[in-house]
Amino acid sequence: MENISQSKTSSVFKKAVLSGFIRKEDSAAILYDLSFLKQRIAYLKSCFPKETLHGLAIKACPLAGIMQLTNELGCGVEAASMGEVRLALHAGFDPGMIVYDSPVKTAEEIAFALSQGVHLNVDNFAELGRINGEMAKWRNGEKTNGEKPGTVGIRINPQIGTGTILESSVAGEYSKFGIPLKTKRQELIKAFMENDFLTGVHLHVGSQGISLEMLVEGTGRLYDLMLEINSLTMEQKGFSQITTFDIGGGLAVSYFRDKQPVSMEDYVAALKQRAPLLFSHQPSDISHQPSAIRLITEFGRWTYTNSGWTVSRVEYVKQDPSINTAMLHVGADLFLRECLNQKDWSHEYTVLDNDGNIKTDVAANQWNLAGPLCFAGDILAKNVSLPVILEGDFLVIHDTGGYTFSMWSRFNSRFAPRIIGYYNDGEEFVLLKEREGMEDLIRFWK
Ligand SMILES: Cc1ncc(COP(=O)(O)O)c(C=O)c1O
Repeated sequence: MENISQSKTSSVFKKAVLSGFIRKEDSAAILYDLSFLKQRIAYLKSCFPKETLHGLAIKACPLAGIMQLTNELGCGVEAASMGEVRLALHAGFDPGMIVYDSPVKTAEEIAFALSQGVHLNVDNFAELGRINGEMAKWRNGEKTNGEKPGTVGIRINPQIGTGTILESSVAGEYSKFGIPLKTKRQELIKAFMENDFLTGVHLHVGSQGISLEMLVEGTGRLYDLMLEINSLTMEQKGFSQITTFDIGGGLAVSYFRDKQPVSMEDYVAALKQRAPLLFSHQPSDISHQPSAIRLITEFGRWTYTNSGWTVSRVEYVKQDPSINTAMLHVGADLFLRECLNQKDWSHEYTVLDNDGNIKTDVAANQWNLAGPLCFAGDILAKNVSLPVILEGDFLVIHDTGGYTFSMWSRFNSRFAPRIIGYYNDGEEFVLLKEREGMEDLIRFWK
C-alpha cells in the first residue's frame, strides 16, 4: 500500500464532516490515516534487524500526537535541533532513542544532550573538539550523576554526488553537512584513534530524488571506512571502536499513483549485499569487527508522506480564456517547496463536490491552483487538468503527510488548519491539532 486512494479520501471526508471533525470554519484541514501509518511502521521494522533504532525524522512531522504514537510503536526519533530534542523528550521518548543531528549545536546544547544520554552525531571537527572537552568532565569525574553520557557518532559526507533535486541533496563533492570523506579520510581515522568515545558513523545522502544506487553506495563507502578503522583500533587499542552505524533517511516516496517507488525491502536487500556485517547479529568471521553493529535509520519522508492528505474549500473560481484559477485556503504557507519550485515538487489532486463526491468530468481548460497569500508565487500548481471546479467544491491534495505542515509559514498571518487523525477508514477520528485562533497569532507576533 503506497498511496491513499481518491475514493478513500472522499469517503473519509464525508465521515469527518458528518461527525463534526471538519466544521464550517475549517476552510482547510489536514488528515492523517493513522492505521496506514501504523502498518507502514510495522513494515519498516520487519525489513531491518529487530535491534535497529528507527529514528524517524521529526522535521518531517513534529505533531505531538503522532510522536506519541510512534513512541508507543517502539520507534525512536531523529532531531534536527535542540527544539526537536526537547519535543521528543516531552513526547516521552527515552533519551537513548533520540538521535541529535543539528549541524549548529551550541556548547550548552551539546552538554545537555550528552547529560541526557541522547545519541549525538557530530557535524565537524570543531564540534568534536567541544565534545571532547565535555567528555573530559565525565572522564575526570566532574560529572558523576551515576549515568553514562550519550553515545557519539560523526557525520561523514560520502561524496556520492547529487540527486535530481539539488536543494535536498547533501552528498555532493561540497556539502554544508558533515566531513567530506575523500579529502578528510586521514583526519577522520585520526579522530577515531584519538577519541575513544567516538563510536559511530553517520551519513545522509539527501531527501527525495536520490537513487537506490546512490543511497547504497553512500553507505558502502562508510562501511569500508568502518572496516578499516575497526581493524586499526583492534590492532592498536584491542577493541573494535565503531559499534553504531547510522544510514540516515532519504528513501524516496511516490507522489503519483502510477509510479512505483523503490520498496524498503529492495533497499534493504541491496544494503545487505554491499554492507553485510550491518545486518549480521552473529559473531563476525571477519577479524577485528564487532559481533553486532547497532543500526540506526532516519526515515522521515518515507514514513509520513503517503499517510497524510489535505483538503481545502475552493473559495472562488476565476475564469479566463487562457486559464482558470481555483482560489484555495492553503498555498505557500503550507506548500512552500511546491510554490517555489514546481519542477521538483508536486502532488496529485482530487476535486470533490460540495457533498464530498468525487468529480470525474475532465475540463477543457486547465487549472491553476492558487493559495490565499499576497504574492504572485503563491500558486501550488499550474496548468493541471482537472474536472470543472465550482465555488464551494473541495480540493484534496494527496500525499501531504511529510514536510508540509512542519514547514508552515506565518507570512500573512493565516490561521494554521485543524489536523485530524483517523483509524479504520474514518470509523474513528482523533483531533491531532486544533485550528489556530487569535491567541496563537498574538503569541507568535508579540
Ligand atoms: C540528517 C537527516 N536525517 C534524516 C533526514 C530525513 O530524510 P527523509 O525524510 O528523506 O527520509 C534528513 C532530511 O533531509 C536529514 O537531514
